[in-house]
Amino acid sequence: MVKSIIAPSILASDFANLGCNCHRMYDSGADWLHIDVMDGHFVPNISMGPPIIDSLRKEIPRSETKASFFDCHMMVSEPEKWVPEIAKAGGDQYTFHYESTKDPVALVKLIKSHGMKAACAVKPGTPVDVLYPLAEDLDMALVMTVEPGFGGQKFMPEMMPKVESLRQKFPELNIQVDGGLGHETIPAAAEAGANVIVAGTAVFKAQDPKEMIQLLRNAVNKNLKSRGLLDE
Ligand code: DX5
Ligand code: ZN
Repeated sequence: MVKSIIAPSILASDFANLGCNCHRMYDSGADWLHIDVMDGHFVPNISMGPPIIDSLRKEIPRSETKASFFDCHMMVSEPEKWVPEIAKAGGDQYTFHYESTKDPVALVKLIKSHGMKAACAVKPGTPVDVLYPLAEDLDMALVMTVEPGFGGQKFMPEMMPKVESLRQKFPELNIQVDGGLGHETIPAAAEAGANVIVAGTAVFKAQDPKEMIQLLRNAVNKNLKSRGLLDE
């Protein structure tokens, strides 16, 4: 059984007011915060790294009763190198890119040995099959629906068959989609079987983030229910 998980991407936040915006997301019903770490090598952009995650963790301590999960999307060339620092800074899940490592199996073990959940992402040009041998050991698979590097890009519906194949093969796996998700594109992602929805622009620029988060959740829950997979 799986749950709907809505993860606003803080890349779309006003960084001058980051802490307060993060509280606002959790108060609006977000399950996770999606934290995009970019190194200017793996992707042509630089965003944020361990010091910011560390500050955010102090602002949002881990809690049993309130949402406080940090989903770290590592768009970096040397994912092995940053595992200890992200764990120390307060990351809960470490998503590396399949394209960035020679030994994904060893990396998954390294991430788990540092007490974090391990996830693997594929860029639009990478076939989803590469995830099949890894899936049993993963806490989540991420199917990118834009080229990683920037917020505000157009959703690629042609990625949906990847999501559908993962859902068919691994019914209980957390399957995340990231890039261009919002009210127009969520139906396709939910129908394909995605249950973890990253949304930057759509949630942060919404008049009412709470309403947008609920809209995304309703679409996911509807599909999970029709598949008999919804954990209520
Ligand atoms: C892109 C990032 C995304 C991005 C999504 O490289 O991985 O998480 O912030 O932003 P939107 O939802 O605006 O496409
Ligand atoms: Zn991301």
